[in-house]
Amino acid sequence: MEFSRLNYLSSVLVFFISAFFCPITVTPLGINYGQIANNLPSPNDVIPLVKSLGASKIKLYDADPRVLKAFANSGVEIMVGLGNEYLSKMQDPDKAREWVKSNVQAYLPATKVTAIFVGNEVLTFNDTSLSDNLLPAMQSVHQAVVDLGLDKQVTVTTTHSLAVLETSYPPSSGVFRKDLVGCITPILNFHAKTGSPFLINAYPYFAFKADPKQVPLDFVLFQPNQGIVDPETNLHYDNMLFAQIDAVYSALTAVGYKKLSVHISETGWPSKGDENEAGATPENAKKYNGNLIKLISQKKGTPMRPSCDLNIYVFALFNENMKPGPTSERNYGLFKPDGTPVYSLGFTTNTAVGNTSISGADGSSPTNSSGSLPPTTNSSSSGYLSISSAVTTKLVQMVPIAALDDLVFDRDLAKKMVLGHMAIVAKHVKDHLILLKMLALFVLSTRLL
Ligand SMILES: *[C@@H]1O[C@H](CO)[C@@H](O)[C@H](O)[C@H]1NC(C)=O
Ligand SMILES: *[C@@H]1O[C@H](CO)[C@@H](O)[C@H](O)[C@H]1NC(C)=O
Ligand SMILES: *[C@@H]1O[C@H](CO)[C@@H](O)[C@H](O)[C@H]1NC(C)=O
Ligand SMILES: *[C@@H]1O[C@H](CO)[C@@H](O)[C@H](O)[C@H]1NC(C)=O
Repeated sequence: MEFSRLNYLSSVLVFFISAFFCPITVTPLGINYGQIANNLPSPNDVIPLVKSLGASKIKLYDADPRVLKAFANSGVEIMVGLGNEYLSKMQDPDKAREWVKSNVQAYLPATKVTAIFVGNEVLTFNDTSLSDNLLPAMQSVHQAVVDLGLDKQVTVTTTHSLAVLETSYPPSSGVFRKDLVGCITPILNFHAKTGSPFLINAYPYFAFKADPKQVPLDFVLFQPNQGIVDPETNLHYDNMLFAQIDAVYSALTAVGYKKLSVHISETGWPSKGDENEAGATPENAKKYNGNLIKLISQKKGTPMRPSCDLNIYVFALFNENMKPGPTSERNYGLFKPDGTPVYSLGFTTNTAVGNTSISGADGSSPTNSSGSLPPTTNSSSSGYLSISSAVTTKLVQMVPIAALDDLVFDRDLAKKMVLGHMAIVAKHVKDHLILLKMLALFVLSTRLL
């Protein structure tokens, strides 16, 4: 009796502690379901595609009622979005309440809406009237969620371009753009108070596209490579995405918000591009997305946060034929509009919510719904931004090429890699020691009771 009570209490404590250090999620793979297209399957036919990836979460760019209805009782978690055009309107508490009521509450609990993002990449437009409206809109939507009694199940956040960072390399030197610190800090305070994550859209593809001769392809595609060592922390990075995520953690730490969790609201790789868009091929897209999904399912963390699961929404579910911009913009999808895979991801997914594979050697559709998918009427989504328009300018600076070169081709690399790995191991051991100490104290204190 005594023992089992202790056991129970200890596991509650372990749960509490790990929940504190990094939020627990079941299967952290998410997928962006954008609909800037006039040929996508009906949402009912999309559910098996999502499940075939082993994804447990989708992110919309609106609150499309057809999608919210179709995904009822599917077990899939949904993040809905409020476009930038809503920011000024949502500051009105009545309008925010009305929106949350009819676009979120109306579908609960059958449809698991778990998050609302208010505004997409707002701060990197450099439009102060838009930026000034961001936090008030987030607060107003959050207040509506609270008033409707939904705050235990629905979080409120916003998504940022990685270009909110002034510096991102090496990862330990990550800081926010100076001119944004003033408006980003109150937003971080909002996250800390309401328990919502900081969301970032990160595309190593743009760094490669900007300088394909200098940026090592294997480093951006999660392929085996020597990697780089952050000279400040001695942490070893074998892929660019992890370096970008840790740069965000550094930027948060620098302004006093070390404990916020960072989720990647978009990342991906196009399977096709214009002549001047180096690297946009099905082979590279397969490597990027296939390797990334494997990493997520292994519940890997980044070098700075090794024990926190990656929380990533891959971009995107479908090729979207009506997106403006270069050819790559219309070719980020894992699936064609007819429901067949654009390329095989090269592995059988081990799914938490489904039981099919999209890796058929013949690349066939998991559901063979291809012939039966009716083209839908045009989407109600009016536009999240084209990916490249907001970020390209800044991305060239994300990896100062000279610095990367020095580290990648350093003759002393073996030594650095060993040091990097030792640092990771040391950090693991340290985390576990802290946990053990707390447990021991806890057990002692219950003995005394
Ligand atoms: C926004 O402002 C920053 C800092 O002044 C600048 O570096 C960036 O290029 C601007 N971005 C756009 C899209 O105008
Ligand atoms: C998963 O698929 C396999 C192979 O098609 C099948 O044998 C198995 O019964 C399925 N499992 C579930 C839980 O549906
Ligand atoms: C898939 O469905 C289409 C249309 O219903 C049909 O023509 C085709 O033969 C099916 N393919 C397979 C492999 O079942
Ligand atoms: C869908 O969009 C296309 C391209 O803009 C347009 O030609 C077509 O009329 C639209 N269809 C509907 C039903 O709105």
